[in-house]
Amino acid sequence: MSTPANSFSCFPADIVPQAPEDPLFGLMAAYRADESPDKVDLGIGAYRDNNGKPWVLPVVKKAETIIHDDPNTNHEYLPIAGLTTFTTKAAELIFGADSPALADKRAISIQTISGTGAVHLGALFLAKFYTGNRSIYFSNPTWANHGQIFGNVGLHTMTYPYFDKQSRGLDFEGMKAAIQAAPTHSVILLHACAHNPTGVDPTEAQWKELATILRSRGHLPFFDCAYQGFASGDLARDAGAIRYFVEQGFELLVAQSFAKNFGLYGERAGALHYVAPPQQEGRLTAEGVADTISRVKSQLAVLQRSEISNPPIYGARVASTVLNDPALFAEWEENLRTMSGRIIGMRKALREKLEALGTPGTWNHITDQIGMFSFTGLSEAQVQKLRTDFHVYMTKNGRISMAGLNTNNIDYFAKAVDSVVRSTQ
Ligand code: LMR
Repeated sequence: MSTPANSFSCFPADIVPQAPEDPLFGLMAAYRADESPDKVDLGIGAYRDNNGKPWVLPVVKKAETIIHDDPNTNHEYLPIAGLTTFTTKAAELIFGADSPALADKRAISIQTISGTGAVHLGALFLAKFYTGNRSIYFSNPTWANHGQIFGNVGLHTMTYPYFDKQSRGLDFEGMKAAIQAAPTHSVILLHACAHNPTGVDPTEAQWKELATILRSRGHLPFFDCAYQGFASGDLARDAGAIRYFVEQGFELLVAQSFAKNFGLYGERAGALHYVAPPQQEGRLTAEGVADTISRVKSQLAVLQRSEISNPPIYGARVASTVLNDPALFAEWEENLRTMSGRIIGMRKALREKLEALGTPGTWNHITDQIGMFSFTGLSEAQVQKLRTDFHVYMTKNGRISMAGLNTNNIDYFAKAVDSVVRSTQ
């Protein structure tokens, strides 16, 4: 008697649908498979040097040598919450060493699998314990992974307008109106700086207005900070919005990535921070704050243990070595300026070339936008044509990773853009 192959399976092949390929990693694979010598990779947000090569930061190389030469280096498990020398400095980096949240011991930091893991752990925590409106609002557009991370844990995902197609800048009125209209105690996801994919950030004054609206609606801010140091080249300035919200006494979450600013993409170094609201009369006493912190910390540890047991050590060790040494830290800041400076140079050059070619349209947004990405305004059909006719790889929403441009390919790219803008809608 023959047994059908699937008789013991609760997953007969016909009920598991085919998932679409991840757009960014699919693009990366397509680029690698392309044999054209002219190919240009403007897809994934990873820094490249002027030769189009990944850049191991010189300060990271130094830290690696220190770790390698240390006779005490081993490969034991980290504690569940991660490497304390790393998380302590990560918190200082994002909140400022003189932050009221750190002085009052109102912050908890837990090491995660880079920024994605931090967003995920924060999402899990909210899904399990958040008693406010279980909807998370994020910008439209946003990083492609936000929707699936929050959706996977059962939170209701909503969007607020962000990008004004006309000005290719911030749709601040639309953003404010949607956040104002969201049910009270919603979770609002905010990109701390260098918004992905648009490269458009609120101004300082706009952040203040947003804080007022979030406060009046009792919303919980959840900051995603993947590009600290990449937007302005200045670490404190790029953390300005988060620091302002903390000063204003918000309870909040922060997902922090070290992938881009340390070039530690594959090492998955990051942290999730929770900040409790300050001690307030009639609300939280000092004991109450300490108690909240202790309870949240214990629950984050349970979630972490069940998800990944304990975080990976190598990237955190590298970052910790730099963050704890003033001379290495200063060198890191210099390395950051090298990366952000090269990107700013490419923005200027691209705008100048398109304007010199007389490419139809306006191109000031290329230099107005900041950080790793530019949202070019190219249509999906134009993006497709750039790929088929010119071997240029970028996401179909028209985003380019500025770091993929260099002095060797920028003329080629500008001419390719000029050609498709003239030929295709
Ligand atoms: C990107 O948006 O290109 C990066 O954040 C990489 C990623 O994981 O999506």
